[in-house]
Amino acid sequence: MFIAMPSEQDYELAAADYLEKVIAEACKTKEKVFIALSGGSTPLPILEELKERDLNWEQIHFFMVDERTVPLNNPESNFGAISEVFFNHISSKCYSMVQEGKSTNEAITRYESFMKDLMHFNHDGFPVFDLILLGMGDDGHTASLFPGTIALKENNKIVVENNVPQLGTSRITLTYPAIISAEKIIVLIKGETKKKVYNEIHTKAETKYPMHKIVLEREDVIWIVGD
Ligand code: 6PG
Repeated sequence: MFIAMPSEQDYELAAADYLEKVIAEACKTKEKVFIALSGGSTPLPILEELKERDLNWEQIHFFMVDERTVPLNNPESNFGAISEVFFNHISSKCYSMVQEGKSTNEAITRYESFMKDLMHFNHDGFPVFDLILLGMGDDGHTASLFPGTIALKENNKIVVENNVPQLGTSRITLTYPAIISAEKIIVLIKGETKKKVYNEIHTKAETKYPMHKIVLEREDVIWIVGD
């Protein structure tokens, strides 16, 4: 686990530089590269910058870490927001957790079928992403694994619908085992509140933060931390 803490450099630029390096390395060693992206606001300017970089986009398959249960053209849609600044500008294949006209369960089944058709799975039966990009909320949630929600206990499925009472809605999310099966996990956080959560996670034996379980399982998580 280490922090790539951009000092003077603009956070988005530093994060895009780092991601470019990691992805280019993966593209050198693998014919197909599988990356899962989180939603939220932090990744958007970074992806907008990253799309300009000279990467072998055709080798890369982008999946989603989580999604809101809304149509793709809804401003809340993670896939919709990332498509606008990133997917629509690169030649990579990208896969949405939501499918117009399909139920959430049907869309999840279809989403998992893409993984099963394309990706290597580990002995535990989980897809091995080359890179998973996570964010973290002020409450220590990551993906759509929110404090006190059922999905925190899911150890067998890859993708689940998760009811999030604190948001008054349900989300679709990769599960813990699917996330910690990745080759590399990078977390993008900015701001004092999230830095405090970061420090608690790395100094206390246990907290109620869902992100804590990932850090306990994977000491090699890379954090890109900005002000
Ligand atoms: C989502 C995300 C979520 C996000 C955190 C941080 O769908 O909202 O996947 O887990 O990473 O909420 O979001 P910000 O980057 O907007 O702070």
